[in-house]
Amino acid sequence: MARIHNFGAGPAGLPLPVLQQAQSELLDYAGTGMSIMEMSHRSKTFEQVIQAAEANVRKILGISNDYAVLFLQGGASGQFAQIPMNILGAGQTADYVHSGAWAEKAIKEAKTVGNVNVSWDGKSEKYMRMPRASELKLTPGAAYVHVTSNETIGGVQFPSFPKTEAPLVGDMSSDIMCRKIDVNQFGLIYAGAQKNIGPSGLVLVIIRKDLAERVPEKVPAIYKYKTHMPEPSLYHTPNTWAIYLVKLVTEWVEAVGGLSTLQAINEEKAKLLYDCLDGSAYWKPCANKDSRSIMNITWRLGTEELETKFCKEATAAGLEGLKGHRSVGGIRASIYNAVSKESVAALVGFMNEFEKKNG
Ligand SMILES: Cc1ncc(COP(=O)(O)O)c(C=O)c1O
Repeated sequence: MARIHNFGAGPAGLPLPVLQQAQSELLDYAGTGMSIMEMSHRSKTFEQVIQAAEANVRKILGISNDYAVLFLQGGASGQFAQIPMNILGAGQTADYVHSGAWAEKAIKEAKTVGNVNVSWDGKSEKYMRMPRASELKLTPGAAYVHVTSNETIGGVQFPSFPKTEAPLVGDMSSDIMCRKIDVNQFGLIYAGAQKNIGPSGLVLVIIRKDLAERVPEKVPAIYKYKTHMPEPSLYHTPNTWAIYLVKLVTEWVEAVGGLSTLQAINEEKAKLLYDCLDGSAYWKPCANKDSRSIMNITWRLGTEELETKFCKEATAAGLEGLKGHRSVGGIRASIYNAVSKESVAALVGFMNEFEKKNG
């Protein structure tokens, strides 16, 4: 079996033991004679799966009963709209931190619903760092403050989150479960599953239950968080396959030692790569040191031709997905939880050789 080193930004590589278990259970889940994809979402068997997935997420992230944990559809992009529809009241203002491409999309959608104040904009520094808390121009009485925990395209990540009076809302699509966080600091956390916790087509939403009560009556039921809360994520047919995979991935997270172990491994992986980038002027890392992401690492080479050559030769060497996002170019290595230290070491080895030949 030839598995490549997968540095894709998402959908991203999944842990091999998870794929193997899914494969072994594909045709006959737990002796039911059916695939998990073929059974009712209201069956006892699936109920156990979704309850285990939720319990694992709660345990790993330390989520109290003040919060609902929901598995919804529409991706993280759906949340860009659903959040203001639910918690941005008429006449209120929501504060948004503009830290890059994903924040920009969130801001654009929120503006279709209500008032938005951009409380910090990293444009003049090409979105290569996150703001310090003291730089945020927050609105007194704001409905909420929205941050993008990790900008997947730029490769910048909040080292820690600002303490805000208004509920903090975090897009953690590309760094959920990569490190320890204090959920209690947030009113709402959301994450598209396809980087760290499962396949695409599912978004994890962690919402403080009282916030879900804010929703205006006129919002359609399907878009109200509170519709999905009494029978968690079973108001309608959820993405059963993706929820099953979240269960397996979260079991894997526990099996490797939980978040503190994963965080230590992730920091080690990121250091390996940043040390290589900092070790020679041949590489030009993009993000400011104080905001460097441990999930998406971005850099440039001297010319675009060299960058194209780099990606082409990397692919030939079994290192996939290194081309930077089409909007910014350059190189990006996404080193999510499922990317092993060995994969990162292989990339660093390839980079050293590439520099020798082309430097
Ligand atoms: C930080 C961030 N937010 C939002 C999204 C959009 O997610 P989706 O494609 O699930 O809508 C992405 C996708 O890559 C992302 O990286």
